Amino acid sequence: MSATTHAQWSSRMGFVLAATGSAVGLGNIWKFPYMVGQSGGAAFVLVYLLCIALIGVPILVSEWMIGRRGQKNPINTMAQLARQHGHTRNWALVGIVGVLAAFLILSFYSVIGGWALAYMRDAATGAFSGLDKGGIGAIFDGFLARPGELLSWHTLFMALTMIIVAMGVSSGLERGSKVMMPALALILVVLVGYGMTTGSFGQAVAYLFNPDWTKLDGSVLLAALGHAFFTLSLGMGIMMAYGSYLGEDVNLLRAARTVVIMDTTFALCAGLAIFPIVFANGLDPAAGPGLVFVTLPLAFGNMGGGLVLGSLFFLLLTFAALTSSISLLEPVVELLEERTPMNRVTATVVAGLTIWALGIAALLSFNLWGDVKLAGLNIFDLLDYITSKFMLPLAGLGAIVFAAWKLEQNSVKQELNLGNTGFAVWSILARYVAPLGVLYVFWNNL
Ligand code: PFF
Ligand code: NA
Repeated sequence: MSATTHAQWSSRMGFVLAATGSAVGLGNIWKFPYMVGQSGGAAFVLVYLLCIALIGVPILVSEWMIGRRGQKNPINTMAQLARQHGHTRNWALVGIVGVLAAFLILSFYSVIGGWALAYMRDAATGAFSGLDKGGIGAIFDGFLARPGELLSWHTLFMALTMIIVAMGVSSGLERGSKVMMPALALILVVLVGYGMTTGSFGQAVAYLFNPDWTKLDGSVLLAALGHAFFTLSLGMGIMMAYGSYLGEDVNLLRAARTVVIMDTTFALCAGLAIFPIVFANGLDPAAGPGLVFVTLPLAFGNMGGGLVLGSLFFLLLTFAALTSSISLLEPVVELLEERTPMNRVTATVVAGLTIWALGIAALLSFNLWGDVKLAGLNIFDLLDYITSKFMLPLAGLGAIVFAAWKLEQNSVKQELNLGNTGFAVWSILARYVAPLGVLYVFWNNL
Protein backbone atom coordinates (compact mmCIF):
# COMPACT_ATOMS: atom_id res chain seq x y z
CA MET A 1 0.00 0.00 0.00
CA SER A 2 1.14 3.53 -0.69
CA ALA A 3 2.52 5.84 1.93
CA THR A 4 -0.66 7.88 1.79
CA THR A 5 -2.71 4.90 2.93
CA HIS A 6 -5.45 6.11 5.19
CA ALA A 7 -7.03 4.30 8.06
CA GLN A 8 -8.23 0.79 7.33
CA TRP A 9 -11.07 -1.37 8.51
CA SER A 10 -10.08 -2.92 11.77
CA SER A 11 -11.34 -6.22 10.47
CA ARG A 12 -12.85 -7.98 7.53
CA MET A 13 -16.01 -8.10 9.57
CA GLY A 14 -16.14 -4.32 9.89
CA PHE A 15 -15.97 -3.95 6.14
CA VAL A 16 -18.61 -6.52 5.38
CA LEU A 17 -20.88 -5.05 8.05
CA ALA A 18 -20.57 -1.55 6.64
CA ALA A 19 -21.17 -2.71 3.07
CA THR A 20 -24.15 -4.81 4.12
CA GLY A 21 -25.45 -1.95 6.26
CA SER A 22 -25.36 0.33 3.26
CA ALA A 23 -26.97 -2.23 0.98
CA VAL A 24 -29.79 -3.48 3.19
CA GLY A 25 -32.31 -0.74 3.81
CA LEU A 26 -35.51 0.79 2.56
CA GLY A 27 -34.59 -0.40 -0.91
CA ASN A 28 -35.25 -3.96 0.15
CA ILE A 29 -38.35 -3.62 2.27
CA TRP A 30 -40.05 -0.50 0.96
CA LYS A 31 -38.92 -0.12 -2.63
CA PHE A 32 -38.47 -3.65 -3.96
CA PRO A 33 -42.04 -4.83 -3.25
CA TYR A 34 -43.72 -1.78 -4.69
CA MET A 35 -41.56 -1.92 -7.82
CA VAL A 36 -42.48 -5.58 -8.24
CA GLY A 37 -46.14 -4.60 -7.93
CA GLN A 38 -45.87 -1.73 -10.38
CA SER A 39 -44.02 -3.90 -12.89
CA GLY A 40 -46.47 -6.78 -12.76
CA GLY A 41 -44.62 -9.42 -10.75
CA ALA A 42 -42.29 -12.28 -11.56
CA ALA A 43 -40.91 -11.12 -14.89
CA PHE A 44 -39.51 -8.09 -13.09
CA VAL A 45 -38.22 -10.23 -10.22
CA LEU A 46 -36.36 -12.64 -12.48
CA VAL A 47 -34.80 -9.90 -14.59
CA TYR A 48 -33.85 -8.14 -11.38
CA LEU A 49 -32.13 -11.28 -10.07
CA LEU A 50 -30.27 -11.62 -13.37
CA CYS A 51 -29.18 -7.99 -13.15
CA ILE A 52 -27.91 -8.56 -9.61
CA ALA A 53 -25.90 -11.64 -10.57
CA LEU A 54 -24.55 -10.65 -13.98
CA ILE A 55 -24.22 -6.89 -13.61
CA GLY A 56 -24.45 -6.02 -9.92
CA VAL A 57 -21.84 -8.43 -8.61
CA PRO A 58 -19.15 -7.54 -11.18
CA ILE A 59 -19.74 -3.82 -10.63
CA LEU A 60 -19.69 -4.20 -6.85
CA VAL A 61 -16.34 -5.96 -7.07
CA SER A 62 -15.04 -3.45 -9.61
CA GLU A 63 -15.90 -0.53 -7.36
CA TRP A 64 -14.11 -2.17 -4.45
CA MET A 65 -11.03 -2.89 -6.58
CA ILE A 66 -10.88 0.67 -7.83
CA GLY A 67 -11.34 2.05 -4.33
CA ARG A 68 -8.65 -0.22 -2.90
CA ARG A 69 -6.18 0.91 -5.56
CA GLY A 70 -7.01 4.58 -5.32
CA GLN A 71 -7.15 4.98 -1.54
CA LYS A 72 -9.01 8.28 -1.87
CA ASN A 73 -12.51 9.59 -2.30
CA PRO A 74 -14.22 8.37 -5.48
CA ILE A 75 -13.56 11.51 -7.50
CA ASN A 76 -9.84 11.73 -6.72
CA THR A 77 -9.48 7.98 -6.95
CA MET A 78 -10.86 7.89 -10.47
CA ALA A 79 -8.81 10.91 -11.55
CA GLN A 80 -5.60 9.53 -10.10
CA LEU A 81 -5.97 5.99 -11.38
CA ALA A 82 -6.84 7.30 -14.82
CA ARG A 83 -3.72 9.45 -14.82
CA GLN A 84 -1.54 6.55 -13.66
CA HIS A 85 -2.82 4.43 -16.52
CA GLY A 86 -2.39 7.21 -19.06
CA HIS A 87 -6.06 8.07 -19.46
CA THR A 88 -7.89 11.35 -19.26
CA ARG A 89 -8.95 12.87 -15.97
CA ASN A 90 -12.51 12.81 -17.30
CA TRP A 91 -12.86 9.45 -15.57
CA ALA A 92 -13.36 11.54 -12.45
CA LEU A 93 -16.87 12.09 -13.83
CA VAL A 94 -17.73 8.61 -12.59
CA GLY A 95 -17.08 9.81 -9.06
CA ILE A 96 -18.79 13.14 -9.58
CA VAL A 97 -21.99 11.60 -10.91
CA GLY A 98 -21.90 9.18 -8.01
CA VAL A 99 -21.65 11.79 -5.28
CA LEU A 100 -24.34 13.87 -6.94
CA ALA A 101 -26.60 10.82 -7.09
CA ALA A 102 -26.02 10.11 -3.39
CA PHE A 103 -27.02 13.68 -2.63
CA LEU A 104 -30.26 13.42 -4.65
CA ILE A 105 -31.16 9.98 -3.33
CA LEU A 106 -30.78 10.92 0.30
CA SER A 107 -33.32 13.74 -0.13
CA PHE A 108 -36.17 11.35 -0.79
CA TYR A 109 -34.73 8.43 1.16
CA SER A 110 -34.99 10.56 4.28
CA VAL A 111 -38.66 11.25 3.59
CA ILE A 112 -39.39 7.52 3.61
CA GLY A 113 -37.14 7.03 6.63
CA GLY A 114 -39.49 9.52 8.28
CA TRP A 115 -42.47 7.37 7.34
CA ALA A 116 -40.83 4.43 9.09
CA LEU A 117 -40.37 6.56 12.23
CA ALA A 118 -43.99 7.72 12.14
CA TYR A 119 -45.19 4.15 11.75
CA MET A 120 -43.08 3.07 14.69
CA ARG A 121 -45.06 5.49 16.83
CA ASP A 122 -48.38 4.40 15.30
CA ALA A 123 -47.59 0.76 15.84
CA ALA A 124 -46.53 1.37 19.43
CA THR A 125 -49.68 3.33 20.26
CA GLY A 126 -51.91 0.60 18.88
CA ALA A 127 -53.18 2.71 15.99
CA PHE A 128 -53.51 -0.36 13.76
CA SER A 129 -55.30 -2.60 16.24
CA GLY A 130 -58.23 -4.42 14.71
CA LEU A 131 -58.38 -2.21 11.63
CA ASP A 132 -59.37 -3.53 8.21
CA LYS A 133 -57.82 -2.44 4.95
CA GLY A 134 -60.07 0.61 4.82
CA GLY A 135 -58.89 1.81 8.22
CA ILE A 136 -55.22 1.14 7.48
CA GLY A 137 -55.51 2.87 4.11
CA ALA A 138 -57.16 5.87 5.74
CA ILE A 139 -54.28 6.23 8.19
CA PHE A 140 -51.79 6.27 5.34
CA ASP A 141 -53.79 8.65 3.16
CA GLY A 142 -54.36 10.96 6.10
CA PHE A 143 -50.65 10.91 6.91
CA LEU A 144 -49.69 11.81 3.33
CA ALA A 145 -52.21 14.64 3.30
CA ARG A 146 -50.48 16.42 6.22
CA PRO A 147 -47.28 17.99 4.88
CA GLY A 148 -46.39 19.45 8.27
CA GLU A 149 -46.34 16.02 9.83
CA LEU A 150 -44.35 14.50 6.98
CA LEU A 151 -41.91 17.37 7.39
CA SER A 152 -41.41 16.72 11.10
CA TRP A 153 -40.59 13.06 10.56
CA HIS A 154 -38.34 13.82 7.57
CA THR A 155 -36.56 16.39 9.74
CA LEU A 156 -36.11 13.91 12.56
CA PHE A 157 -34.73 11.23 10.27
CA MET A 158 -32.33 13.67 8.59
CA ALA A 159 -31.24 15.00 11.98
CA LEU A 160 -30.42 11.49 13.18
CA THR A 161 -28.42 10.86 10.02
CA MET A 162 -26.53 14.13 10.43
CA ILE A 163 -25.76 13.54 14.11
CA ILE A 164 -24.32 10.11 13.41
CA VAL A 165 -22.19 11.37 10.52
CA ALA A 166 -21.04 14.53 12.31
CA MET A 167 -19.97 12.59 15.38
CA GLY A 168 -18.25 9.99 13.22
CA VAL A 169 -19.89 7.13 15.07
CA SER A 170 -21.00 5.18 12.02
CA SER A 171 -18.89 2.25 13.09
CA GLY A 172 -20.84 2.00 16.33
CA LEU A 173 -24.02 1.89 14.34
CA GLU A 174 -22.59 -0.79 12.11
CA ARG A 175 -21.66 -2.88 15.10
CA GLY A 176 -25.20 -2.43 16.33
CA SER A 177 -26.42 -3.80 13.04
CA LYS A 178 -24.91 -7.15 13.98
CA VAL A 179 -27.87 -7.52 16.33
CA MET A 180 -30.46 -5.40 14.55
CA MET A 181 -30.22 -6.96 11.11
CA PRO A 182 -30.79 -10.53 12.26
CA ALA A 183 -33.67 -9.25 14.39
CA LEU A 184 -35.22 -7.57 11.38
CA ALA A 185 -34.74 -10.74 9.38
CA LEU A 186 -36.46 -12.70 12.13
CA ILE A 187 -39.52 -10.46 12.09
CA LEU A 188 -39.68 -10.74 8.32
CA VAL A 189 -39.67 -14.50 8.67
CA VAL A 190 -42.52 -14.27 11.17
CA LEU A 191 -44.40 -12.09 8.69
CA VAL A 192 -43.79 -14.61 5.92
CA GLY A 193 -45.25 -17.18 8.31
CA TYR A 194 -48.23 -14.94 8.84
CA GLY A 195 -48.58 -14.72 5.05
CA MET A 196 -48.88 -18.51 4.98
CA THR A 197 -51.95 -18.28 7.18
CA THR A 198 -53.76 -15.82 4.91
CA GLY A 199 -54.71 -18.40 2.33
CA SER A 200 -53.08 -16.32 -0.40
CA PHE A 201 -49.49 -17.44 0.04
CA GLY A 202 -49.50 -19.63 -3.06
CA GLN A 203 -50.84 -16.81 -5.13
CA ALA A 204 -48.07 -14.54 -3.83
CA VAL A 205 -45.37 -17.09 -4.61
CA ALA A 206 -46.70 -17.50 -8.14
CA TYR A 207 -46.91 -13.73 -8.53
CA LEU A 208 -43.26 -13.37 -7.48
CA PHE A 209 -41.72 -16.31 -9.28
CA ASN A 210 -43.93 -17.55 -12.10
CA PRO A 211 -43.30 -15.07 -14.87
CA ASP A 212 -45.77 -13.70 -17.35
CA TRP A 213 -43.22 -12.58 -19.94
CA THR A 214 -45.74 -10.40 -21.73
CA LYS A 215 -45.26 -8.03 -18.78
CA LEU A 216 -41.67 -7.49 -19.81
CA ASP A 217 -40.93 -4.35 -21.78
CA GLY A 218 -38.17 -1.78 -21.97
CA SER A 219 -39.37 0.15 -18.97
CA VAL A 220 -39.57 -2.96 -16.78
CA LEU A 221 -36.03 -3.85 -17.84
CA LEU A 222 -34.82 -0.41 -16.89
CA ALA A 223 -36.68 -0.53 -13.58
CA ALA A 224 -35.08 -3.89 -12.73
CA LEU A 225 -31.61 -2.73 -13.73
CA GLY A 226 -31.93 0.56 -11.86
CA HIS A 227 -33.15 -1.16 -8.76
CA ALA A 228 -30.24 -3.60 -8.84
CA PHE A 229 -27.94 -0.58 -8.60
CA PHE A 230 -30.00 1.14 -5.94
CA THR A 231 -30.31 -1.88 -3.72
CA LEU A 232 -26.60 -2.74 -3.80
CA SER A 233 -25.61 0.94 -3.34
CA LEU A 234 -23.78 0.88 -6.67
CA GLY A 235 -22.82 3.74 -8.92
CA MET A 236 -22.69 6.19 -6.03
CA GLY A 237 -19.05 5.97 -5.20
CA ILE A 238 -20.07 4.51 -1.86
CA MET A 239 -18.70 1.05 -2.40
CA MET A 240 -15.64 2.68 -3.98
CA ALA A 241 -15.13 4.73 -0.85
CA TYR A 242 -15.49 1.62 1.32
CA GLY A 243 -12.95 -0.13 -0.89
CA SER A 244 -10.45 2.58 -0.12
CA TYR A 245 -10.36 1.42 3.49
CA LEU A 246 -9.83 -2.20 2.53
CA GLY A 247 -6.80 -4.19 3.55
CA GLU A 248 -5.27 -6.51 0.99
CA ASP A 249 -6.33 -9.57 2.91
CA VAL A 250 -10.03 -9.26 2.15
CA ASN A 251 -11.33 -11.65 -0.49
CA LEU A 252 -13.56 -9.47 -2.63
CA LEU A 253 -15.59 -12.19 -4.29
CA ARG A 254 -16.41 -13.76 -0.94
CA ALA A 255 -17.36 -10.39 0.51
CA ALA A 256 -19.55 -9.69 -2.51
CA ARG A 257 -21.28 -13.02 -2.07
CA THR A 258 -22.14 -12.20 1.53
CA VAL A 259 -23.46 -8.73 0.77
CA VAL A 260 -25.49 -9.83 -2.24
CA ILE A 261 -27.03 -12.85 -0.54
CA MET A 262 -28.06 -10.76 2.46
CA ASP A 263 -29.49 -8.02 0.31
CA THR A 264 -31.42 -10.36 -1.97
CA THR A 265 -32.77 -12.43 0.91
CA PHE A 266 -34.15 -9.36 2.65
CA ALA A 267 -35.86 -8.21 -0.54
CA LEU A 268 -37.41 -11.58 -1.37
CA CYS A 269 -38.61 -12.08 2.21
CA ALA A 270 -40.21 -8.65 2.14
CA GLY A 271 -42.01 -9.67 -1.04
CA LEU A 272 -43.13 -12.96 0.50
CA ALA A 273 -44.41 -11.09 3.55
CA ILE A 274 -46.26 -8.34 1.70
CA PHE A 275 -47.92 -9.99 -1.30
CA PRO A 276 -49.97 -12.59 0.59
CA ILE A 277 -51.52 -9.65 2.47
CA VAL A 278 -52.09 -7.81 -0.81
CA PHE A 279 -53.96 -10.72 -2.35
CA ALA A 280 -55.80 -11.85 0.76
CA ASN A 281 -57.27 -8.38 1.18
CA GLY A 282 -57.83 -7.52 -2.45
CA LEU A 283 -55.34 -4.66 -2.33
CA ASP A 284 -53.74 -3.20 -5.43
CA PRO A 285 -50.22 -4.61 -6.01
CA ALA A 286 -49.46 -1.49 -8.06
CA ALA A 287 -50.35 0.86 -5.19
CA GLY A 288 -46.87 2.42 -5.37
CA PRO A 289 -44.62 3.78 -2.60
CA GLY A 290 -47.26 3.22 0.09
CA LEU A 291 -47.46 -0.55 -0.45
CA VAL A 292 -45.52 -1.70 2.61
CA PHE A 293 -47.32 0.88 4.77
CA VAL A 294 -50.79 -0.35 3.85
CA THR A 295 -50.03 -4.07 4.04
CA LEU A 296 -47.82 -4.92 7.02
CA PRO A 297 -49.84 -2.76 9.46
CA LEU A 298 -52.84 -4.91 8.52
CA ALA A 299 -50.92 -7.93 9.74
CA PHE A 300 -49.69 -6.18 12.90
CA GLY A 301 -53.16 -4.90 13.69
CA ASN A 302 -54.72 -8.33 13.48
CA MET A 303 -52.22 -10.77 14.95
CA GLY A 304 -51.39 -11.70 18.52
CA GLY A 305 -48.42 -9.69 19.80
CA GLY A 306 -48.79 -7.37 16.83
CA LEU A 307 -48.26 -4.28 18.96
CA VAL A 308 -44.78 -5.29 20.06
CA LEU A 309 -43.85 -6.91 16.79
CA GLY A 310 -45.07 -3.93 14.76
CA SER A 311 -43.21 -1.35 16.84
CA LEU A 312 -40.09 -3.46 16.76
CA PHE A 313 -40.37 -3.94 13.01
CA PHE A 314 -40.56 -0.22 12.27
CA LEU A 315 -37.78 0.47 14.76
CA LEU A 316 -35.52 -2.00 13.01
CA LEU A 317 -36.56 -0.71 9.60
CA THR A 318 -35.57 2.77 10.73
CA PHE A 319 -32.26 1.38 11.91
CA ALA A 320 -31.63 -0.33 8.57
CA ALA A 321 -32.55 2.90 6.82
CA LEU A 322 -30.08 4.82 8.97
CA THR A 323 -27.14 2.53 8.19
CA SER A 324 -27.93 3.24 4.54
CA SER A 325 -28.56 6.98 4.88
CA ILE A 326 -25.26 7.59 6.68
CA SER A 327 -23.54 5.88 3.77
CA LEU A 328 -25.31 8.33 1.45
CA LEU A 329 -24.32 11.40 3.45
CA GLU A 330 -20.69 10.39 4.11
CA PRO A 331 -19.35 10.88 0.58
CA VAL A 332 -20.98 14.29 0.27
CA VAL A 333 -19.53 15.38 3.61
CA GLU A 334 -16.10 14.00 2.79
CA LEU A 335 -16.07 15.89 -0.47
CA LEU A 336 -16.90 19.17 1.26
CA GLU A 337 -14.33 18.51 3.95
CA GLU A 338 -11.65 17.92 1.36
CA ARG A 339 -12.43 20.65 -1.11
CA THR A 340 -13.44 23.48 1.23
CA PRO A 341 -12.12 24.85 4.51
CA MET A 342 -15.13 23.37 6.33
CA ASN A 343 -14.56 20.97 9.19
CA ARG A 344 -16.57 17.80 9.57
CA VAL A 345 -19.38 19.26 11.63
CA THR A 346 -19.85 22.29 9.40
CA ALA A 347 -19.69 20.13 6.30
CA THR A 348 -22.32 17.80 7.72
CA VAL A 349 -24.62 20.69 8.59
CA VAL A 350 -24.24 22.34 5.18
CA ALA A 351 -24.71 19.11 3.21
CA GLY A 352 -27.46 17.87 5.50
CA LEU A 353 -29.50 21.05 5.39
CA THR A 354 -29.28 21.27 1.62
CA ILE A 355 -30.41 17.67 1.23
CA TRP A 356 -33.13 18.23 3.83
CA ALA A 357 -34.46 21.23 1.86
CA LEU A 358 -34.61 19.19 -1.33
CA GLY A 359 -36.42 16.52 0.63
CA ILE A 360 -39.18 19.02 1.39
CA ALA A 361 -39.85 19.33 -2.33
CA ALA A 362 -40.00 15.54 -2.47
CA LEU A 363 -42.49 15.20 0.38
CA LEU A 364 -44.74 17.91 -1.03
CA SER A 365 -45.19 15.63 -4.07
CA PHE A 366 -47.56 13.59 -1.90
CA ASN A 367 -49.86 16.52 -1.22
CA LEU A 368 -49.55 20.24 -2.07
CA TRP A 369 -47.32 19.79 -5.09
CA GLY A 370 -48.91 16.58 -6.32
CA ASP A 371 -49.66 18.22 -9.64
CA VAL A 372 -46.22 19.70 -10.15
CA LYS A 373 -44.93 17.40 -12.85
CA LEU A 374 -42.14 17.17 -15.33
CA ALA A 375 -42.45 14.61 -18.11
CA GLY A 376 -45.40 13.14 -16.20
CA LEU A 377 -43.41 12.61 -13.01
CA ASN A 378 -43.80 14.47 -9.72
CA ILE A 379 -40.68 15.67 -7.92
CA PHE A 380 -40.39 12.54 -5.78
CA ASP A 381 -40.66 10.22 -8.78
CA LEU A 382 -38.37 12.44 -10.80
CA LEU A 383 -35.60 12.29 -8.18
CA ASP A 384 -35.99 8.53 -8.08
CA TYR A 385 -36.04 8.25 -11.87
CA ILE A 386 -32.97 10.30 -12.73
CA THR A 387 -30.88 8.64 -10.04
CA SER A 388 -31.86 4.95 -10.28
CA LYS A 389 -32.62 4.80 -13.96
CA PHE A 390 -29.95 7.08 -15.27
CA MET A 391 -27.12 8.27 -13.02
CA LEU A 392 -26.39 5.04 -11.15
CA PRO A 393 -26.25 2.73 -14.18
CA LEU A 394 -24.12 5.29 -15.99
CA ALA A 395 -21.63 5.72 -13.15
CA GLY A 396 -21.58 1.96 -12.56
CA LEU A 397 -20.89 1.42 -16.25
CA GLY A 398 -17.96 3.81 -16.01
CA ALA A 399 -16.57 1.94 -13.01
CA ILE A 400 -16.73 -1.48 -14.59
CA VAL A 401 -15.41 -0.37 -17.96
CA PHE A 402 -12.48 1.18 -16.14
CA ALA A 403 -11.82 -1.87 -14.00
CA ALA A 404 -12.16 -4.36 -16.83
CA TRP A 405 -10.48 -2.46 -19.64
CA LYS A 406 -8.12 0.06 -18.09
CA LEU A 407 -6.61 -1.62 -15.04
CA GLU A 408 -3.71 -3.96 -15.44
CA GLN A 409 -5.51 -7.30 -15.77
CA ASN A 410 -2.81 -9.51 -14.29
CA SER A 411 -3.06 -7.66 -11.03
CA VAL A 412 -6.85 -8.01 -11.15
CA LYS A 413 -6.51 -11.75 -11.61
CA GLN A 414 -4.23 -11.98 -8.60
CA GLU A 415 -6.38 -9.70 -6.53
CA LEU A 416 -9.50 -11.75 -7.20
CA ASN A 417 -7.60 -14.89 -6.39
CA LEU A 418 -8.87 -16.66 -9.49
CA GLY A 419 -7.45 -19.47 -11.59
CA ASN A 420 -7.44 -19.29 -15.37
CA THR A 421 -10.99 -20.53 -15.83
CA GLY A 422 -12.40 -18.37 -13.06
CA PHE A 423 -10.67 -15.34 -14.42
CA ALA A 424 -11.92 -16.06 -17.94
CA VAL A 425 -15.47 -16.12 -16.60
CA TRP A 426 -14.83 -12.91 -14.68
CA SER A 427 -13.43 -11.23 -17.79
CA ILE A 428 -16.38 -12.19 -19.94
CA LEU A 429 -18.78 -10.85 -17.32
CA ALA A 430 -16.89 -7.68 -16.53
CA ARG A 431 -15.76 -6.78 -20.04
CA TYR A 432 -18.81 -7.75 -22.06
CA VAL A 433 -21.89 -9.05 -20.27
CA ALA A 434 -22.25 -6.33 -17.64
CA PRO A 435 -21.40 -3.28 -19.78
CA LEU A 436 -23.38 -4.50 -22.79
CA GLY A 437 -26.28 -5.41 -20.50
CA VAL A 438 -26.45 -1.86 -19.21
CA LEU A 439 -26.15 -0.44 -22.72
CA TYR A 440 -28.81 -2.81 -24.03
CA VAL A 441 -31.30 -1.68 -21.40
CA PHE A 442 -30.54 1.98 -22.10
CA TRP A 443 -30.84 1.46 -25.83
CA ASN A 444 -34.17 -0.28 -25.31
CA ASN A 445 -35.51 2.81 -23.62
CA LEU A 446 -34.43 5.37 -26.17
N1 PFF B 1 -28.95 0.30 -0.84
C1 PFF B 1 -29.85 1.02 0.03
C2 PFF B 1 -31.18 0.31 0.11
O1 PFF B 1 -31.39 -0.65 -0.62
O2 PFF B 1 -32.00 0.75 0.90
C3 PFF B 1 -30.11 2.41 -0.40
C4 PFF B 1 -28.89 3.11 -0.74
C5 PFF B 1 -27.91 3.30 0.20
C6 PFF B 1 -28.74 3.50 -2.00
C7 PFF B 1 -26.76 3.89 -0.15
C8 PFF B 1 -27.60 4.10 -2.36
C9 PFF B 1 -26.62 4.26 -1.41
F1 PFF B 1 -25.52 4.84 -1.79
NA1 NA C 1 -30.69 -2.84 -0.69
